Order: sequence, then C-alpha cells, then structure tokens
Amino acid sequence: AKYKADIAAEQPTTPDAIEAFRIKYLGTKGLLKTIMGEMKNVAPENKKEAGQLLNDFKVFTENTFASFTEAAGTQTNATAVGIDLTLPGTPAPLGTRHPISIVRNKIISIFNKLGFAVAEGPEIEDDFHNFSALNLPENHPARDMQDTFYISQNPDWLLRTHTSSVQIREMQKGTLPLRIICPGRVFRNETISARAHCFFNQVEGLYIAENVSFADLKQTLYFFVTEMFGADVKVRFRPSYFPFTEPSAEMDISCLICHGKGCNVCKKTGWVEILGCGMVHPKVLENCGIDSNKYTGFAFGMGIERITMLNYQIKDLRLFSENDVRFLKQFESA
Ligand code: PHE
Repeated sequence: AKYKADIAAEQPTTPDAIEAFRIKYLGTKGLLKTIMGEMKNVAPENKKEAGQLLNDFKVFTENTFASFTEAAGTQTNATAVGIDLTLPGTPAPLGTRHPISIVRNKIISIFNKLGFAVAEGPEIEDDFHNFSALNLPENHPARDMQDTFYISQNPDWLLRTHTSSVQIREMQKGTLPLRIICPGRVFRNETISARAHCFFNQVEGLYIAENVSFADLKQTLYFFVTEMFGADVKVRFRPSYFPFTEPSAEMDISCLICHGKGCNVCKKTGWVEILGCGMVHPKVLENCGIDSNKYTGFAFGMGIERITMLNYQIKDLRLFSENDVRFLKQFESA
C-alpha cells in the first residue's frame, strides 16, 4: 500500500521522467524485480499471500506507467503542433445520395407495401432471357443491331435491353404465386441526348397468380403513382403493343410541371407517359414452364430517369451520369 501511494504521487510528464519511472519500478534492476528476488526468502506458508500481493503491485505499476505514457503522448503531440484540444472539430462534409438512387429506393418501398419483393439478375444476358422467352420473334425490330449491344465474343450474349430478363429467370424458378419488382441498369445503343442515353435504369414488375386481372394491374399502378406523386395526380391508359403482353397499354399521368396548361415536358398535351404494361402473354408463361390455363399475370416497366426528371423537374438526362458535384449535392434525402 505504501508503494502504491508513492507511485501514484509520481507524476512524470516529460519523456525522460517517464523513462526514469519505468527504470525505477519496472526495469531489470527495478523495485518489482528486486521484490520478486525476495520471494525465495518468504516462508512457504506465506508464499501464496505474498505472491498475490506482488502480482497486484505489478499490475498496478504497469497500468500507472501506461496511463502516464498515454497522457504525455496526447499532450506533447498536440502542444508540439500548436493544437488547442478544447476547440470544436472541423465537420467532415457528408456526401448525398444520387437522385436516381433516391427515387429507386422510393419506388421499391412503395411496391414493398403491396408485397412485391426485389429480384435482381445479370446485366450481361443471353438471347433467350432477353428476347426469345419474351416472345420476340427472330426478326423483331427491337433485336436490331441498332438497339442492342451484342458481345463480340459470342453472338448469343448481349447487354440486357430491359430487366424483363430477370422476370424470366424468376418465372423459371417455378415458385408461384410470384410478386416481384426488378430494378436495374439496362443498355440500348441510342444516340446520347437530353432525352436518351446508351444506358438507363428501370424498375419492372411482375405479378403471377390465379385470377389476376387487368383491374388488379390498374389498381396497383394507380396506388403507385398516388404514393409517388401525390393524391391529385390523374392517370390514363392508352392501348399499346409489346410482344410479351396481351393486351398491352401505356400509362400516362397528368403533367406535374404545367398542370395541363401546356409545357415542353408534356409537349402541350397535359399528359406524360411514364410506363408500359399489360397482361403477361400466355406464350411467355409457357416458355417458362408455367401453366397458362391455371395462371395469369400482369407486368409493367418504367424508366427511373423519367420518374426522377418529373419528380425534381430535371430537363437533361445527361446530368445523371456526368458526376458534377454541383448537380448531385442538391439532392438530400434518406
Ligand atoms: N420491357 C418493356 C421495355 O423495356 C417495358 C414493359 C414491361 C412493358 C412489362 C410491358 C410490360 O420497354
């Protein structure tokens, strides 16, 4: 106990004083070693108690030494370079999420509420998953070299032109009913402009079960747009054509920019197209081994860029891929 008091009373701060402390107590000829040497003279019946005391002393001395070194280290380093440790720190600037990610996450969370799970697949696809399984005949214009990036090593490989390929992969797994959305990057050989790019992001959706109807499709998509754009938004469906859906439609929403007064985004029509959709073609179901007499389903697909542009009133698609921090830091959201 006396030694402990002595040790605690020592307050070495300079490196030299701390080293002297170490030699005095912990060095090869220090106090600790000396007492250890005395152990052989202790009577056998007292050895246990003496050993415990000695160990206690050893731990205490070592800890004290460690705390002196630590305190001195922080102090000398800081004072040496003239840092005032009492000042508040410089805040590290936080990055922001990319607007495409913000909107993709929002779309995913809206469909999650309806029980849609996220499914993902490869960006490099084969002809079957991207085209033939989806009922795109051999000579369909969408297969034209103009639109599709083929991989030169193998004519069967390509960069997926839509995430419908992921839906094929999920249907092939054979677990029904199936309720998924497929977010992901897709590629098309288009001239880059304010409205088009050689790659963009999609969210496609698929619901297959018994007795799924076009009414289910409409209600699901209506729920989506009101959650996304607010309860005031109006929708309309126009008949359309996709090889993989029958009947097919495109869905427009009322223009959020001019509210029907007429602007460039809606080309003065008051309506903006946001997605394609339809009832899954029976041939597509059969191509994936699903009994089309028992099951029906709907599918839809939208471009995230288009939704993001409407949401934030962004007029040029190229901004999304230029990595200009002045553009990107304007979007702060979870
Ligand atoms: N795959 C279509 C496209 O990329 C979108 C779509 C999906 C249309 C599902 C209808 C049904 O353009």
